[in-house]
Amino acid sequence: MYLTRRHMLVGAGLGLGTAVLAGKGVRSLMASEPLHREPGLVEYQMVAQEFPQSLVPGGMTPVRGFNGVAPGPTLRVKQGERLRVTLINRLQEPTTIHWHGIRLPNAMDGVPGLTQPDVLPGESFTYEFVCPDAGSYWYHPHFNSVTQLGMGLSGALIVDEADPPAFDADLELVAKDWRVNEDGSFKPMMTLKGAARGGTFGKLRTVNGAVNPHYGLPAGGLVRLRLINVDITRIYKVMLEGAEAQIIALDGNPLTEPLPLHRQWVGPGQRMDLAVRMPEKAGAEVKLVNTSTSKPWVMSTLVSKAHTEKVAAGLPRLAENPIDRPDLSRAPVIRYDFSAGVGEKMDDGTPLLWAINKKAWPDLGGCLAEPLTKLKRNNSYILEFANLTPRAHPIHLHGMAVFPIKSDKRSVLPLPTDTVMLASEEMVTVGLLADNPGDWMLHCHILEHQDTGMMGVVRVS
Ligand code: C2O
Ligand code: CU
Repeated sequence: MYLTRRHMLVGAGLGLGTAVLAGKGVRSLMASEPLHREPGLVEYQMVAQEFPQSLVPGGMTPVRGFNGVAPGPTLRVKQGERLRVTLINRLQEPTTIHWHGIRLPNAMDGVPGLTQPDVLPGESFTYEFVCPDAGSYWYHPHFNSVTQLGMGLSGALIVDEADPPAFDADLELVAKDWRVNEDGSFKPMMTLKGAARGGTFGKLRTVNGAVNPHYGLPAGGLVRLRLINVDITRIYKVMLEGAEAQIIALDGNPLTEPLPLHRQWVGPGQRMDLAVRMPEKAGAEVKLVNTSTSKPWVMSTLVSKAHTEKVAAGLPRLAENPIDRPDLSRAPVIRYDFSAGVGEKMDDGTPLLWAINKKAWPDLGGCLAEPLTKLKRNNSYILEFANLTPRAHPIHLHGMAVFPIKSDKRSVLPLPTDTVMLASEEMVTVGLLADNPGDWMLHCHILEHQDTGMMGVVRVS
């Protein structure tokens, strides 16, 4: 069913997608039907599986996805509601689901060998947790990450505001490149050369699984776009052509004052919510463009579609998420050095190219290492994330939000986030209230860096 819907709506070369309806009860294009819904609870079933999917005209790609699509279906839940997802593993290897950016109990965090056992082929696991924060989030396995995410296992998780803001349409744009040959077969997901640098890039660039998908949106309408970077490598630098856009949220959290979008970096794992007023003229096009490479490319095209309903008037305010702030007055400072590897190798001889505080983590999906740091529950800390390398690293902490304080290179927005983008040689200082007990991963979201050492555990107890 997803296949049919996806192909109908955004199928390669089909041109204009179906309009996203205006008014209340706006539905996302790729929303998956929940298995069950009752007051306070939404329940989904997610089957992880390999299947052929058409990405290039030349042939089929043996992607891995959920419920028959890659990237997987969009899951939607209301802020404060409980999400229950049963993962059924029909892959040939273990997997899990991690809920990127959601502040949840440690046992639901989806890290194999750390927070739960591997979900073996043929087995299932039920995740259940409340989503306390509204915004754009996503999900993905935490096992054999470069391969599993690279082949398509990821998708959007949208937490709708308890008090929904008035937009005429709400559209998620899940950005991902693919390492495929002309006949559709996969290239090796990573090269040592790439892993030692900025990563191994895919040349087929998609949004919602299609190259430059077109979407019809209400002319003159106020549209909420949710760009979700599920790529394992690419740091996008995004601009909009043909309309003005305001950045209204980053990594799930609303800006106190929306900022006009010029060119915004969106690293792997990061999200950006935009408010865009569509042109009044039917047929006018608005293009989302990536400018991070020497040759910019259009990620997706929005087309104004005539319609008769009234459109949303002003920019609605998004309410702040209920995240407690750290008390920085007496918070101890902890430093994390993100650096090149220190010469260690995995059992199979693969070099561990990267490290945190001189320790490399082999992501073998079940290996337990000593925590990098042990934090006291409900204490506040100042964390210094120091990038000692010339490469950029989007650093992701599970389970809790951090509040950026300053950078030694630029000004930072003090918005809570789960992923801090470190530019070359940059140090970003953040505050953390360690209010969620458990062992939490801290890692680079350029997954080749993660899988070759740039990962560790922060223990809160
Ligand atoms: Cu988006 Cu450790 O993950
Ligand atoms: Cu990195």
